[in-house]
Amino acid sequence: MNDQKNMLFSAYNMNGLKLRNRIVMAPMTREFSPNGVPNDYAPTYYSKRAAGGVGLIITEGVEISHKASSGYPNCPNLQSEQSKKMWEKIINEVHKNHSSIFCQLWHCGGVRKLGMPPDPKIPGFTPSGLVKEGGKKVAYEMTLEDIQELIQIYANDAKICQELGFDGVEIHGAHGYLIDQFFWEQINLREDNYGGSLENRARFASEIISNSKQITSDSFKVGIRISQWKQQNYDAKIASSKKGLANFFNILKDAGADFLHCSNRRYWENEFSDESINLAGYAKKITGLPSISVGSVGLNKDFTKTFGGDHETQTADISTLYKKLNNNEFDLIALGRILLSDPNWANKIKDGKESSIVPYDKSFAENYI
Ligand SMILES: Cc1cc2nc3c(=O)[nH]c(=O)nc-3n(C[C@H](O)[C@H](O)[C@H](O)COP(=O)(O)O)c2cc1C
Repeated sequence: MNDQKNMLFSAYNMNGLKLRNRIVMAPMTREFSPNGVPNDYAPTYYSKRAAGGVGLIITEGVEISHKASSGYPNCPNLQSEQSKKMWEKIINEVHKNHSSIFCQLWHCGGVRKLGMPPDPKIPGFTPSGLVKEGGKKVAYEMTLEDIQELIQIYANDAKICQELGFDGVEIHGAHGYLIDQFFWEQINLREDNYGGSLENRARFASEIISNSKQITSDSFKVGIRISQWKQQNYDAKIASSKKGLANFFNILKDAGADFLHCSNRRYWENEFSDESINLAGYAKKITGLPSISVGSVGLNKDFTKTFGGDHETQTADISTLYKKLNNNEFDLIALGRILLSDPNWANKIKDGKESSIVPYDKSFAENYI
């Protein structure tokens, strides 16, 4: 193995959780869990990526145990005994293959629409009834009681994850779903302690993190995934100044987050024009917390093109990734699509078999199991 790859394959200790390398499988919704239960091939799906050399797996978004968390069909949850049994099986298979696994806890917020399962009468839950900027009130506006109930549900689900054997949870606070809707000034118009200033808009997430930490053991990791971009607006930002963003990251740190996963569409893009580090780099610089970067690693197109109909990709050089890791810009790197099309990506990179990596093509997505 050549020297520039050493850091990618070096072990990482996330405050006691020992990962064999810096490679993370990004959370990816697969819609193969009818009635919330991961199907029979899910344990093999995850264990193949572990056997392929991934150090840490973050599961697909798992709907938290709330009546309005679902926004897509056939996504998994933690509610039934069958579902819990399947998660235990998945966790065991992943651990047997020397990887760790975090569960991504997800509430779709206003992305949920009336008519969706499980109960079509339940609307999308949002901070202020809005789903996009300048839009009309089209969704349910959460009360203070709803907020308190949801904080408790997240914490209870984190506890369930610990009992099932997960190594941690990643709270999904990115991409314009419920928690990100609280962060987002343009659609969080609340006038109570959960809207207004950045501190207030981050309070829902902070209380979810601190309550989840309180109810789980010290060794169980509770982190959060955040993004500046929203699926409703790729140019949206939670904070655009260095000071504002530093303040935001410090609030999450003070809440007790064990790691920050900063979602970019292209990992090589800098967050600010005068500093050559990306969002995850800035999170690490400000907080010193373990930070995870992501976005088009090893591929020539970002994932939004996939959903825009331009779904064929080619593999791409990752020398910039080696440089960033060697500079300690961030600690871990997550990969999405390339691990769907090629579960053996990590081992192939390690063994110098780059030319045999299979690029992602959405046309085959159902076969990526
Ligand atoms: C099929 C698919 C499903 C995804 N589902 C989720 C999800 O459940 N939770 C999440 O935070 N991000 C989700 N994402 C975003 C990925 O985690 C990742 O950030 C994105 O694909 C960029 O990484 P990539 O360029 O390596 O694919 C999904 C992406 C894809 C392609």
